[in-house]
Amino acid sequence: MKRVSGTRGRRGTMALLTWSSKYSVGVKSLDDQHTEFIGILNELHSAMLKGKAQSIAGALLTKLMNGARNHFSTEERLMESTKFAGLAEHRAEHRALTAKVDEYLARHKRGDNTMFLELLNFLRDWLTNHMQQVDKKYTAWMNEHGVR
Ligand code: FEO
Repeated sequence: MKRVSGTRGRRGTMALLTWSSKYSVGVKSLDDQHTEFIGILNELHSAMLKGKAQSIAGALLTKLMNGARNHFSTEERLMESTKFAGLAEHRAEHRALTAKVDEYLARHKRGDNTMFLELLNFLRDWLTNHMQQVDKKYTAWMNEHGVR
């Protein structure tokens, strides 16, 4: 079975992912939303380690998807209002992620209990890559347009 590795947090608990300045996209409200998203991922990871994923996963997955949709919408509105040229490509990345997570949610609803590890690995990898490689493409542009 593929392992989900993490980093040890302040209270000694193993976190799946820990916020670091290397993930900053240079816009505080968006960094805050990314941090919140990481928090939900860590909640799901912690529940899985305690064997409680099944009982609380539904609520956490809903929270995760609501948080993701809210964040994508905020980010896309900022790109629209500043007329960022990479909006369409960026929006396609967001839609692909939403569709992929919807597939995991459908598996969860069908009673597939094997999807948690895959989902956590997928989301950790997607998020760390997206923040550093995709979101950072708008940092200079946003900052030049007074969005910080
Ligand atoms: Fe921060 Fe493009 O998601």
